[in-house]
Amino acid sequence: MSRGMSNVDGNESGPPIPGLIGEGTAMERVYRLTRRVARSNASVLLLGETGTGKELIAKAIHRLSPRGSGPFIRVNCGALAENLLESELFGHVRGAFTGAVDNRTGRFEAAHTGTVFLDEINSTTPKLQVKLLRVLQEHEFERVGDTQTIRVDTRVIAASNCDLLDEAAAGRFREDLYYRLNVVTIELPPLRERRDDIPSLVYHFLKIYSEENFRHVLHVEPAAMQALQDYAWPGNVRELQNYIERAVVLSPGDELTRDLLPEPVLGGRPRRIGRSRADLETLASELIQQGVETAGPSAENLYAAIVNRVERELIVQVLAGCDGVQIKAAERLGINRNTLHKKLKEYGLES
Ligand SMILES: Nc1ncnc2c1ncn2[C@@H]1O[C@H](COP(=O)(O)OP(=O)(O)OP(=O)(O)O)[C@@H](O)[C@H]1O
Ligand SMILES: [Mg+2]
Repeated sequence: MSRGMSNVDGNESGPPIPGLIGEGTAMERVYRLTRRVARSNASVLLLGETGTGKELIAKAIHRLSPRGSGPFIRVNCGALAENLLESELFGHVRGAFTGAVDNRTGRFEAAHTGTVFLDEINSTTPKLQVKLLRVLQEHEFERVGDTQTIRVDTRVIAASNCDLLDEAAAGRFREDLYYRLNVVTIELPPLRERRDDIPSLVYHFLKIYSEENFRHVLHVEPAAMQALQDYAWPGNVRELQNYIERAVVLSPGDELTRDLLPEPVLGGRPRRIGRSRADLETLASELIQQGVETAGPSAENLYAAIVNRVERELIVQVLAGCDGVQIKAAERLGINRNTLHKKLKEYGLES
């Protein structure tokens, strides 16, 4: 009878990957792809909104791969300016630039025989993208300021929380690098698209934070679970995790009650921190719905009212995504700096 069990998909979806919660079909697909790509050396591109588990999956791919006992090196490409990032990734030789007082080994070399995880790859500059393309294609590079070519055996996993094809269309991301990274793409679904997984995530985090805080908050009031399941979760699993930790710490008893949940979950306006196009689309349709409900379809200024609200939210979100840096936000929005400034004033968003 064992021959009948050779269904490839069935075997591979198998039990969820340790540490990853969620049993729905959306996550099963993620687990199946994770297991499959783990066996290969292919580059993997992880796409998903903030807090959806991209880093968790990157680590799982590494752990389940033949390189699992080698190093796993994460580099946050969004955290460093171009020159520093280049030296961080590829290393430099003494005297390569002001401040380069010693030779330095880069992260690609450090990840030899293992995996390098390029987080927020969308933040890299075209110049750096050329160098990355070469590492992916030829497995070689030079340290900054050096002529000697270094060869490495490093697998690349990259993550982005925005659509790289959009970035490529806007001229901010090299298309050839995109296709090279994107041998296999794994899309992490936002939490609002897999609400069935919310209860198991809630219990998972209750257990973790109860242990951590010497508490026993292991029950959930039905009204609290309902609120958690109804919320839009712009910050996805990370946001859920934070709220559960907060509730455990604040709880006077052994039950997570509705009053322990923060304002956004309790039906106030959701705090929007997502940055993806999908998020904006969801927001726009929610606002339109709200606008129609409150103003009635015949209201004269409905159009302007909705457009203004969407525009304001868009600016708030993009600005938050750029840590408040207006030049960056204007660039991302594709509008002039002065226009952004005017709009900030108009909407009372000036700081
Ligand atoms: N399926 C899951 N099961 C359990 N925990 C999860 C799951 N997905 C995410 N988490 C937890 O949520 C938090 C955020 O996950 P992670 O850092 O992997 O997200 P991310 O996609 O890399 O986010 P960002 O784009 O903001 O860097 C982590 O603490 C992680 O452990
Ligand atoms: Mg991350």
